[in-house]
Amino acid sequence: LKKIAVVTSGGDAPGMNAAIRAITRLANLNKIEVTGFERGWEGILTNTHKPLTSRSVGGIIQQGGTMLRTARCTEFMQSSGVKQAAQILADHKTEALIVIGGDGSFKGAYDLSKQTDIKIIGIPATIDNDVFGTDETIGFDTAVNTAQTEIDKVRDTALSHERTFVVEVMGRKRGFLASAVGLAVGAEIILVPEVKHQDSRIYQKLKENTAKGKKSSIIVAAEGTGDTRTLAEQITKNTGMEARLTVLGYVQRGGSPTARSRILASLFAEKAIELLTQDKVNRIATFQRGRIGSIDLEKSCRTEKSLDTDLLELAEKLAT
Ligand code: F6P
Repeated sequence: LKKIAVVTSGGDAPGMNAAIRAITRLANLNKIEVTGFERGWEGILTNTHKPLTSRSVGGIIQQGGTMLRTARCTEFMQSSGVKQAAQILADHKTEALIVIGGDGSFKGAYDLSKQTDIKIIGIPATIDNDVFGTDETIGFDTAVNTAQTEIDKVRDTALSHERTFVVEVMGRKRGFLASAVGLAVGAEIILVPEVKHQDSRIYQKLKENTAKGKKSSIIVAAEGTGDTRTLAEQITKNTGMEARLTVLGYVQRGGSPTARSRILASLFAEKAIELLTQDKVNRIATFQRGRIGSIDLEKSCRTEKSLDTDLLELAEKLAT
């Protein structure tokens, strides 16, 4: 193996840079040249790239975002785009491609794997933590901690003003972030897209809390659970409580990665290079039950990761 390429794709996640750094340095130690394609799949389609060297990836381990930049590329979703990308990579004479991203990026990677002999390895990085086969993705821990820090501040106002807060966290389709954050901040109610909720149950729960002597509550809602502004307004209308909304938004995607995200990025990178040097390809690096491993790219793409409802049940018990 002499020449590999790296790309970051989909939503950025803190720790992507730590992964780029580790891939480059480990590859260089193995005398492998590394090219970084810029702006995700778009950079492959437009043949926009730059060489990555052990020196050029210096000073980025502590930075959020991705120095290769990223994009959500719709063109790539069409088979003509995938074919074009396969050709450009072949012309570039790269022998392998490491894709750092989430499930959407891996679906693209899988489509590409069917059109090319280039070896493909995925490194899971998304704050949504929704990649099948790994308990954790790069950036998830950072996003959980960022949201926790912000919600702790909201809690101060909730307690002081005896208010109810709806805090919207990211997660358009999945509730991994909302579940972890909700448990960590002691949320009274956690709403996730996977579990349908009835607004009337929320009002009832809040009233029960008041009867138990709770003077304020925090509802952590994943963005995919519906219109949180309306929810806050309806809570005020139906319970008489003073409810407010805080949308955390993109602060959750940025910022310096936590130690955990950086370490996971470094370990995933090590696994990726190991897989390539052992000629095990079309796989993604994983972290399961405390161990780094790998699973088939196709399996990961075709299987939906299930949400651990135990966390939700525990959070509910602890919010009594
Ligand atoms: O990175 C994942 C995610 O944060 C989702 O939870 C969210 O729905 C989405 O990205 C929004 O990001 P964008 O505006 O980049 O599409």
